[in-house]
Amino acid sequence: MPKVAILGATGYTARELILLLLGHPQAEIVSVTSRQSSAGKIADSHPQLRGRLDLELSHFDLEQLLNLGVDTVFSCLPHAASAEVIRPIVEQGIRVIDFSADYRLDNVDTFEQWYGVTHPDPGQVGSVPYGLPELFRDDIQGAPLVANPGCFPTSVLLPIGPLLKHRLIADSPLIIDSKTGVSGGGRSPKPGFHFVECNESIRAYGIGSHRHAPEINQLLHRYSSVHADVVFTPHLAPMDRGILSTIYCQPQAGSSRQTVLDCLSDFYRDEPFVRIVDTPPATKQVTQTNFCDIAVSESAGFIVVTSVIDNLIKGASGLAVQNFNLMCGFEETTALVS
Ligand SMILES: NC(=O)c1ccc[n+]([C@@H]2O[C@H](COP(=O)([O-])OP(=O)(O)OC[C@H]3O[C@@H](n4cnc5c(N)ncnc54)[C@H](OP(=O)(O)O)[C@@H]3O)[C@@H](O)[C@H]2O)c1
Repeated sequence: MPKVAILGATGYTARELILLLLGHPQAEIVSVTSRQSSAGKIADSHPQLRGRLDLELSHFDLEQLLNLGVDTVFSCLPHAASAEVIRPIVEQGIRVIDFSADYRLDNVDTFEQWYGVTHPDPGQVGSVPYGLPELFRDDIQGAPLVANPGCFPTSVLLPIGPLLKHRLIADSPLIIDSKTGVSGGGRSPKPGFHFVECNESIRAYGIGSHRHAPEINQLLHRYSSVHADVVFTPHLAPMDRGILSTIYCQPQAGSSRQTVLDCLSDFYRDEPFVRIVDTPPATKQVTQTNFCDIAVSESAGFIVVTSVIDNLIKGASGLAVQNFNLMCGFEETTALVS
């Protein structure tokens, strides 16, 4: 049974990951890390884990992971901090699933331009499989390192990737309006994310500057060979979790709501975690699940696609477990359906 370590275990995505892995019959969590010097037990950070996981938090120490026989690491660290530790881990033959953006983009220049830091492991950028199984499954199976996607990109690539590939929609304009719950910003307090700032309020942010825009553009191109240029506007919504993306697409000549619907229904017919639904979906219908629900509507000549995911599950930890299952050769749905 794979022995698993979780880095950055005091954060939100790590909490969800632990809850999923506790239900995984083929994974044993043996190490959880934090930078804090007196972090105590994991359940002190996440009270939901009391009586379920009795592990002390410890500083990251590669030697200790090797002594424990760890063969899979989930890195729930922020960008740059993640790649800094991943390189030596991979060199030891330990499988890694990286939650950060460090290995998602095609090239180092784009990463450094958008993230404003020097990449700590530039040699691997562009060659790491992007962990979205529905579009890149063959690359993920058996891979030693996988870049888990960003939450907004997952909610966009799943509906739009097949439509661009089959040339049913134009590459521009492609207007994406996304709403996210506050957990999307992580657990560290930031002024704009305080309860008083977010509750009963909604605002757009990062217009033209959000780091997920280049990820969406590059991965749409990697998958469909089409150079799309998206107009991406995220909004912070007063909810704990969930993403709703509304995507306005210009149909190509001859395509219609029905051809788009047929394409997505065919493409996802055998996929366990993507559901094509009749009416525009609500975030609550996928809360704490690994589903992405997608609907297709039509308005004023545009195809309007709506998709919902739970940012912490299909947008992060559920997807990571799906990737883990593929990397290890387990049933892809293990620990993800009850
Ligand atoms: N939240 C989401 O919806 C979401 C979705 C997809 C992907 N992601 C990505 O997943 C990763 C984790 O996100 P999260 O929301 O779980 O974040 P989080 O709640 O802020 O947790 C990250 C943890 O990493 C540790 N950490 C922070 N800065 C660090 C540094 N410079 N060096 C080492 N450790 C550091 C912290 O633990 P200690 O203080 O205990 O060390 C923190 O609890 C990020 O890369 C994020 O971009 C998040």
